[in-house]
Amino acid sequence: MSAQTVCVIGSGYVGLTTAACFAHLGHDVVCTDIDADRVRRLKAGECPILEQGLDNLLREGLAGGRLRFTHDNKEAAGAEFIYLCVPTPQGDDGSADLSYIESAAREIGPVLTADSVVINKSTVPVGSTLVVERALGRSDVHVVSNPEFLREGSAVHDFLNPDRIVIGAEDQSAAVRVASLYLGIAAPLIVTDPASAETIKYAANAFLATKISFVNAIAAVCEAVGADMNDVVLGMGYDKRIGHEFLKPGPGWGGSCFPKDSRALVKIADNAGYEFDLLKGVITVNTEQFDRVAARAVDMVGGSVDGVTIAVWGLTFKARTDDLRDSPALEIISRLRAGGATITAFDPSMPDGKVDDHKRSALEGIDVVDSPYAACEGAAALLVLTEWDEFRWLDFDKVGELLAAKRVIDGRNLLDRESLRRRGFAYAGIGRV
Ligand code: UDX
Repeated sequence: MSAQTVCVIGSGYVGLTTAACFAHLGHDVVCTDIDADRVRRLKAGECPILEQGLDNLLREGLAGGRLRFTHDNKEAAGAEFIYLCVPTPQGDDGSADLSYIESAAREIGPVLTADSVVINKSTVPVGSTLVVERALGRSDVHVVSNPEFLREGSAVHDFLNPDRIVIGAEDQSAAVRVASLYLGIAAPLIVTDPASAETIKYAANAFLATKISFVNAIAAVCEAVGADMNDVVLGMGYDKRIGHEFLKPGPGWGGSCFPKDSRALVKIADNAGYEFDLLKGVITVNTEQFDRVAARAVDMVGGSVDGVTIAVWGLTFKARTDDLRDSPALEIISRLRAGGATITAFDPSMPDGKVDDHKRSALEGIDVVDSPYAACEGAAALLVLTEWDEFRWLDFDKVGELLAAKRVIDGRNLLDRESLRRRGFAYAGIGRV
């Protein structure tokens, strides 16, 4: 496979993973970022995000001379492929804000080589390829959509072992050239038009969110009729048409993608004249799930959390990441604090209990401590909100001694209910009474 020249604009989750993985595949990659301090740290081989394997790939790329970082987007000049991996935050009306994409395109447009290919990898609404074409102001440059499906916490694995590669292009030869970047990766290749590629991304995320909201709704039914959600999920998942993936009930879905993308898709449909009631329902069930889990904690401590201390395990939106964005745990904690509760919390992504400056405001009012046991000291109940595996293997006799009362609300159905009950704990799970 011949090395190609790739420029990646933006070094966030998607950008940095894309850059490091393409360098790992043998391409010559330059990655840019508007944050000069981030570029300085990346040049020094410092990985700014908690992502398994990414730090090694970063150092491998730097050492091999195939990966470099710059603060200047104009270094896109001379690259055959230019990936746009900049943020598309949510606008006030729920739609995706394309201003970062447009300003990056405007900046690089004049310096690009004729016949080069600009590729959208950020999650962008249908029709964004046209927005980029306009901003580039070049008729001799191709614009292609190549959405990313990586999950936080397994980004490198997902990039190098994708379930499929989706490329949306008007020009088939440009699509084939982009596909050649992935040589060495065995995965189905879907080559389609830009609008379909852009829609695949939103539809996939919205469907996964729908699956989770559905199991959380079924969990509510289980609590009402006395069924066991763990068995219900098992019984559902063996149906190959359903599958066990993304069928875990919990405190609701969050993170930097599902909330933003589901709202954006409702907006896209609305603008196109389709009232997406199903997806609106999925979002409503998710918000209600935050209320339901908070209410279970209130019930567990006797009906009020006013002046009560609750121990919390897990603050991030899911395990194996340090990302607090749109975290269900923080949604539930804010409801309990509004009821007068004091929260002592432990999260494995902050093992020493130290909170980075950029996370301080999100964790305001929460007493973050340096061990799961310290969080339990004198608390009226323990609330598990993020599915870190290490929580399973803790000493629950010790937990029972530290808590003021042996009460667990297992927001992830992570713990062994029977063993806790044998130890005298009151236990409430999601769809498990
Ligand atoms: C998601 C998509 O999975 C990924 O393909 C896309 O590229 C980006 O968005 P990510 O945001 O990392 O990835 O999170 P994901 O692992 O999908 O989890 C999303 C939320 O759903 C989390 O809050 C998680 O805890 C929750 N979840 C997931 C459940 O509650 N139950 C499940 O079975 C799976």
